[in-house]
Amino acid sequence: MKKYITTPIYYVNDVPHIGHAYTTIIADSAARHFRLRGYDTFFLTGTDEHGQKIEEAAKKRGKSPKKYADEISAKFKKLWDEFEISYDKFIRTTDENHIKGVQKAFEIMYNKGDIYKGTYEGHYCISCESFFPESQLIDNEFCPDCGKPTTIVKEESYFFRLSKYQDKLLELYKNEEKFVLPKSKKNEVIRFVEGGLQDLSITRTSFSWGVPLPKSIDDPKHVMYVWLDALLNYVTALGYGSDEALMHYWPADYHLVGKDILRFHAVYWPAFLMSLDLPMPKHIATHGWWTRNGEKMSKSKGNVVDPKTVADAYGLENFRYFLLREVPFGQDGDFSQKALIDRINNDLGNDLGNLLNRIIGMSGKYFDFFIDSKDVQKFHQKELDAVEEIIAKLDPLVEDMKWHKFLEELWQILTIANKAIDTYTPWAKMKEGKEDEAMALIALVANILAKTALLLHPVMPKTTQKIASALGFEIDRDSFTKFIAQKELLASFTIKKIPPLFPKIEEPLMQEKKPNKEQKEQQTQNLISIDEFFKTSIKIGTITEAEEVPKSKKLLKLQVDLGEDRPRQIIAGIKEYYSPEDLLGKQVCVVANLKPAKLMGYLSEGMILAAKDKNGLSLVSPLEPKAPGTPVK
Ligand code: MSP
Repeated sequence: MKKYITTPIYYVNDVPHIGHAYTTIIADSAARHFRLRGYDTFFLTGTDEHGQKIEEAAKKRGKSPKKYADEISAKFKKLWDEFEISYDKFIRTTDENHIKGVQKAFEIMYNKGDIYKGTYEGHYCISCESFFPESQLIDNEFCPDCGKPTTIVKEESYFFRLSKYQDKLLELYKNEEKFVLPKSKKNEVIRFVEGGLQDLSITRTSFSWGVPLPKSIDDPKHVMYVWLDALLNYVTALGYGSDEALMHYWPADYHLVGKDILRFHAVYWPAFLMSLDLPMPKHIATHGWWTRNGEKMSKSKGNVVDPKTVADAYGLENFRYFLLREVPFGQDGDFSQKALIDRINNDLGNDLGNLLNRIIGMSGKYFDFFIDSKDVQKFHQKELDAVEEIIAKLDPLVEDMKWHKFLEELWQILTIANKAIDTYTPWAKMKEGKEDEAMALIALVANILAKTALLLHPVMPKTTQKIASALGFEIDRDSFTKFIAQKELLASFTIKKIPPLFPKIEEPLMQEKKPNKEQKEQQTQNLISIDEFFKTSIKIGTITEAEEVPKSKKLLKLQVDLGEDRPRQIIAGIKEYYSPEDLLGKQVCVVANLKPAKLMGYLSEGMILAAKDKNGLSLVSPLEPKAPGTPVK
């Protein structure tokens, strides 16, 4: 039985941040989880080093792309080593064997007729960074997504026949229910493929930092599109196209990816594999994005979370627990010191750490640190059954990458232990002379702690070893088999005092980064005076007509009465949230002195105010009806 787990390979145009750490720590926990259960596990991570972005980043710093890639790749590797990430291989797309494998794959696809040479004549929307086929453009010119004009880019290119695989891909999604995890994300992929797949341009001539085409094709102008090169890392790392030494690990069981790169993994990658006649990966497990105190992280805001700083301040394993517990897998999450401190003080400190302290204390006070489990079943079969019932639910949760649920459920067994102490009060039993009952209760809780340590081990490897050493057992395959798989109890415990595992944190341990000069300037620049505010004329308007803009996914065309001699025409990107009939007669706030602009060929003479959060978009409206044209101040 094997498991093959991968992280995305990280671009070397930037240093590691919390998003990278998140994917890598999930993958690491999964790898450790499967290893403990006896799977022959292979865990791959690495860096993605080709492409225009990297070429430009290197140029900016006056370095060759390879030198620059060497430096940043080493930073990723160093961080993962400091984090004790248990990867089996760290691949770099500049590795010779990788390049060989990519060229081999290209050759196979080419010889099969799945790659052909043509001219790329695409309408490119700079704002959306996407090409659109003519058939999707509005008025032969405007971007169907944002309505801005597109520019024509023409270059010679090799194409992959993605269109050929449309039906096979849809079949794959239909047959493999859990191909995309969480399942809810699959519909997005299906909709995209059902919308029609265009052949994919897979070479570039506009830059040179990429894998050259195979010698047999002999076309030195071209280098490979970075995503073809990058995705193939998952098989070249196993020796595809070179020594094939580890190919028995293929297909991957879990490709962990962020939601922004789902399409590449769930559409392009399986199509490439179909062309290469290789089996499909089992799961594309897709996580959401981290924000910082509710805001998107960006260098210019200076709010990017550095994982090393967090781990140094709060402890690596506490950070690992937080990342996995805080956010349901697949959803976006917010990083704040407060949320992290709450998890450490409550879940780890109160529920787990205190429980261990109580057991250490009571076992010392009443039984000189020696606890026998012989009477646990006699007095606590009910609690044991409840614990085993919960444990039985845990593995399938990890199989679906639902780590947050896994930890939530696991904590239920700690609740059983904490409740048992309060219900059976061993100190009272001791007073009543019922030593056997007190001993059985302490043994029940010690067993629950031992099982928790075994189950939590993949997420908190060192902390759980400390728990195990306090209880006097080892965490390894054998004890996992006995005490989890075979549901046995530890026969006895020789308990040891250890320092508290989760000292209470009273105050944030990291200084919120002070903005640097540039960021400060930006912040003051963001403040405006009242006079500046009054430059914007906002007025109440009543929507008198509303219709869809043909062929646009986002835009509605509205006529809005602002109390002037004729209604204003406003093109608003709200179609995903409102249908035209919902809007008739509604009052909205309109920015009335905005320069008119053309969107998809229609004049727009104002802008409607709306608020958007993760639950959707809502137009802003006065609480009571107001005469059209009333100024908003
Ligand atoms: N090189 C490609 C992947 C190729 S895999 C064949 C790439 N690299 S990346 O460095 O830009 O991103 C790597 C991963 O980091 C992605 O899965 C992305 O979703 C994740 N994250 C980047 N920022 C993130 C957050 N703020 N939060 C969570 N994850 C985010 O894409």
